[in-house]
Amino acid sequence: MTDTFAPTAYQLQSVATGNIFPDTGWMLDAPGEEKHSLIRAIYKNKQLITKGIEFGLYTFADWLPIKRMLKGSSVPVTYKSEGLANALGLKNLYITFSGYWPQKGALMRSCSFKETEAFAVGGRMTESQYTDVLVVASAGNTARAFAQVCSDNKIPLLLCVPEDNLDALWFEAAINPCVKLLATEKGSDYFDAIHLSNQIIGLEGFYAEGGAKNVARRDGMGTTVLSASTFIGRIPDYYFQAIGSGTGAIAAWEANMRLIEDGRFGTHKMKLMISQNHPFVPIKQAWEARSRDMLPYENDEAHRHVIEIDAKVLSNRKPPYPIIGGLFDALTDTGGMVLSATNAEAKAANKLFQETEGNDLHPAAAIAVASLINAVKDNQVEKDAVIMLNITGGGEELFKKTHQLHYLKPNAFLPIDCELSVIKQTLSKLDWKFETTAKPA
Ligand SMILES: Cc1ncc(COP(=O)(O)O)c(C=O)c1O
Repeated sequence: MTDTFAPTAYQLQSVATGNIFPDTGWMLDAPGEEKHSLIRAIYKNKQLITKGIEFGLYTFADWLPIKRMLKGSSVPVTYKSEGLANALGLKNLYITFSGYWPQKGALMRSCSFKETEAFAVGGRMTESQYTDVLVVASAGNTARAFAQVCSDNKIPLLLCVPEDNLDALWFEAAINPCVKLLATEKGSDYFDAIHLSNQIIGLEGFYAEGGAKNVARRDGMGTTVLSASTFIGRIPDYYFQAIGSGTGAIAAWEANMRLIEDGRFGTHKMKLMISQNHPFVPIKQAWEARSRDMLPYENDEAHRHVIEIDAKVLSNRKPPYPIIGGLFDALTDTGGMVLSATNAEAKAANKLFQETEGNDLHPAAAIAVASLINAVKDNQVEKDAVIMLNITGGGEELFKKTHQLHYLKPNAFLPIDCELSVIKQTLSKLDWKFETTAKPA
């Protein structure tokens, strides 16, 4: 399968200036530009030719900035809803499911769309990177996806995860020692894990995954829209997703623009209907004030809100919202809305999904369903509109019931605002001697 793989030709483009330049290796910013801007991949193949389900996520390789295909990937699955659609009186509700649901052909073992990012990011790596260590900060799902993908493909990885989120690090098999884990102490949150990872990526031998700035991460997530649009035969009218950073929504907007350029899927932009878990709603507040900058969010208040919300993975305090080409621009261009739902609404939505569709949802995905329910009640969508509901995680209960679980244990626990000397000392004790892979799987 991989022997015949020829990587897709692409260049990178600064959204701020339009400058086009080659990807000389893991570029996260436009060279020599002062303005803070996302960069985008411009693919030579303007029309998307899917390769086939046996390629997993890489069925969409035409629009992924990759050098190789990793083993073990799965693709998001889209189907037309009957149960939930009937319950809500919707005629054209399409569910794009990233998670575990063998009956529907969804086989993501880490049970969330973060796997789409991890397979795209891992596939983008150049040979020179195989000896350095990729650093990823996460509140749970991203860490699980990257750990599994890096373990299966022997890619050195250092995870930074808050101690309170460690129960999210379960796997179907023991994780390869090429994956190490640092936990930020009890009471810390995603923001603290990011802070720790930022200190580490300044050190020799470690490099940043890049988050929203990594074109592979965004185009990996954009495969959810490619799945929906190729299944439906057109670009949807509305796009519902729960957001923390909003990277998935930026990716959806970018995939939409590529589909317009493709010429076979329509010429319109989907209205982004993205949602946060109340009361953690900093993006909603900024967008409702039509402010490109995030509004002040006091530390203690943010910490309190993070504790309160069930969908902890949605608790990003520094989203790529103000950056040029980021979430503010995506919302502006698509006439989008930022919604919110409470824990109670999400629980009810999860129950309804379970009863009408037949699988369990990640608390984040339940926020998206709750927001769709609210939007229907508030007449924010037409009953016959083509709606894409991005179920970003699900089937966890099903997976746990049918698999024996292995938990990844931290190599060390570090305090919030840990001194660099302590971090260095901790890192020096980690044994990075293991076999890595420089060849395609
Ligand atoms: C299951 C799930 N859904 C939604 C999100 C939000 O993703 P983002 O805001 O990065 O697009 C996350 C983030 O970790 C997640 O794990």
